[in-house]
Amino acid sequence: MTEKKKFHSVRGVRDILPPDSSLWNWFEQAARDTLETYNFREIRLPIFEDTELFARSVGAETDIVSKEMYTFQDQPADLESANEMGRGKAVSLRPEATASVVRAYIEHGMQTLPGLVKLYYLGPMFRRERPQKGRYRQFYQIGAEVLGQSDHPAIDAEMIEMLIVLLGRCKIESWTLLVNSIGDANCRPAYVALLREELRKVKNQLGADSQRRIDTNPLRVLDSKLAEEQAIVASLPKIADHLCDDCRNHFAELRRQLDLRSIPYTVDPRLVRGLDYYTRTTFEITSPHLGAQNALAGGGRYDGLSEMLGGPPAKCIGFALGEDRFIEVIQAAGSLDRATAGRPLDAFIVWLGAAAYPAAVRLARRLRQEGFRVEIPAEESKLKKALSLAERLGARFAIIVGDQEVAAGAYAVKRLADGEQRKLAESDVAGFLRG
Ligand code: HAM
Repeated sequence: MTEKKKFHSVRGVRDILPPDSSLWNWFEQAARDTLETYNFREIRLPIFEDTELFARSVGAETDIVSKEMYTFQDQPADLESANEMGRGKAVSLRPEATASVVRAYIEHGMQTLPGLVKLYYLGPMFRRERPQKGRYRQFYQIGAEVLGQSDHPAIDAEMIEMLIVLLGRCKIESWTLLVNSIGDANCRPAYVALLREELRKVKNQLGADSQRRIDTNPLRVLDSKLAEEQAIVASLPKIADHLCDDCRNHFAELRRQLDLRSIPYTVDPRLVRGLDYYTRTTFEITSPHLGAQNALAGGGRYDGLSEMLGGPPAKCIGFALGEDRFIEVIQAAGSLDRATAGRPLDAFIVWLGAAAYPAAVRLARRLRQEGFRVEIPAEESKLKKALSLAERLGARFAIIVGDQEVAAGAYAVKRLADGEQRKLAESDVAGFLRG
């Protein structure tokens, strides 16, 4: 006999099981509530998009696009949409969702909507990264984006404030906010040219990745994690010293806006982030509880992206937080255990004898309609065994429905924590469970 193959989830992806799933649901609801109070509304986005959309927005040379996307050729629905190889176009599982939001903003003409367009999304993202603690190939983000005609730093600061409020709701007390400005189309090219020049001078002391980035994306050398590159990176020119007046003023006003909100921050001149669409503000929130993958959330401004994708001019800022990492930090702190644990089983109905079964079924449905979590076994078992299962399931109450109880029109309702038992008419059971 050949042994049956056992399946496992694919490397880097995982199942979220109960009771953890209750915490995930609690967290998602807390995030939704927080975002809604800041007047964000949900946008539901596709899980896959044209590969080209990510290449043009996140950047073809970034790690995300060049190495980490799950890309496949879609089946052409008809011959016309097939490419010369007879295949459909390339699509990719989304590695992030900002590109999709901007695509949707353009596609649906949202620039004509009144005021700022404030959208949030949540769901899985996919990156073929090397799996490790806090880093998955399918991970979950909650993100928010503001798109419109104003780039006032108050918008940036309010976004950050919203994240800080969510951290508070999650009782996450230790975190660090890092902020930076990486300039705009006006001042960044000259800084990048200068950086490239300086990097060429020290090329031989750099690792292979950084050497390659001198040509492809010198800014990324700034967030190198290689120990042997740290001293060199520290001595490179800082973008803060090369910002144009508009960018410098914007960054100064952002800091003032954070101060007036009493939000502590650290300016990190090396915070360039791994996506190409950013202009001016970049920020990250890190946690000391996360180890190497310590970013809880990251974001920034991307004022040029809409136009780059063929849309109208739009000033935009957004962030995404890593749900997997938030959950890990909340669990480590342990301070929310009671609030976030899923509801316990309210009642386990022990029915005894075929004649009692219809009454038990009716009672179960009635209690469920009242919102209680109820279990009724499909098969009859002995009283002792049924009570023992009720206890092991963590039920608050066992309700005994036997022939005698049905005849008397009163069920035995037993509180398992202290053994207190009452005889109650069907209509009184819910009240006792609630009390
Ligand atoms: P990001 O920094 O690539 O930004 O991702 C945001 C957050 O997602 C990270 O801070 C981290 O918590 C989480 N994350 C990223 N990769 C993984 C992974 N492999 N496993 C677990 N968690 C991960 C963005 O995605 C931008 N779209 C954010 C943004 C929105 N910028 C402007 N608007």
